[in-house]
Amino acid sequence: MPALLLDGKSLARQIRAELREEVADFIENNVTIPTLAAVLVGNDPASEVYVRFKRRDCEEVGIRSQLHRMPEESTQEELLALIAKLNKSDEVHGILVQLPVPDQIRTERVLEAISPLKDVDAFHPENVGRLVQNRPVYLPCTPHGCLELLKRNDISTVGKHVVIVGRSDIVGKPLSIMLAQRGADATVTLCHSRTQDLPAVTRLADILIVAIGRPKFVTADMVKPGATVIDVGINRTDGGLVGDVDFDGVKEVAGHLTPVPGGVGPLTRVMLLVNTLAAARRLEN
Ligand code: GUN
Repeated sequence: MPALLLDGKSLARQIRAELREEVADFIENNVTIPTLAAVLVGNDPASEVYVRFKRRDCEEVGIRSQLHRMPEESTQEELLALIAKLNKSDEVHGILVQLPVPDQIRTERVLEAISPLKDVDAFHPENVGRLVQNRPVYLPCTPHGCLELLKRNDISTVGKHVVIVGRSDIVGKPLSIMLAQRGADATVTLCHSRTQDLPAVTRLADILIVAIGRPKFVTADMVKPGATVIDVGINRTDGGLVGDVDFDGVKEVAGHLTPVPGGVGPLTRVMLLVNTLAAARRLEN
């Protein structure tokens, strides 16, 4: 029997409807409107699309968004000066610098310049440290989206073997920490480019999460029959947008599978809204 699809698009719509009410409630009880400041340096076409989507999402739930555009040749100092201004602004609750930034700018310097209280991506070292100690202020959006997708589809992680493929700072690394923590209670294996006999490891997974940025990398023979497979990949190919999982092959083996697009992506975006509202609540109370 083919896998049941985990529909992130409709789940995100449902969460946005919940958020719309919470935002309206916040605005009624405070003098300010929750506001996200997005910073876009240069003209990377994919970043343009992501930022446009994020702003549209904000608008849909009643969060105000600002877009701060800077030219491709901007210096690190110029970007840090803008961040310092946004950190100080009473009107701004969340700050997001769309990545990647141009080569002349050091990403770590940018991420650690954002006030941890306004860091709605949860990339600041303080927020990463808080996450590791299981007392987070904000959860990183894509890992949080993956967990919410599982939770709202009644797929428990407790006692399960979760195998994650990809150890990025944005997805694999924080996910491995969040899943191993009390509450999620999974047994976690974090795989990467140097893992030996990867298919033998991925076949052990009750839940397989793939975030390596290689189109159709995970094939049916790498999946245990009945496993839940979460595809975090978004790869632009000549054949359109594809994930890191070979969807057509894996859907014949997996028990549950996320589509691309329409799986994790919409939930990542919704978690940014969740964090922006949380930031507004923290900063106004
Ligand atoms: N670029 C790719 N993913 C992300 C993300 O989650 N946040 C930001 N700021 N930039 C990104």
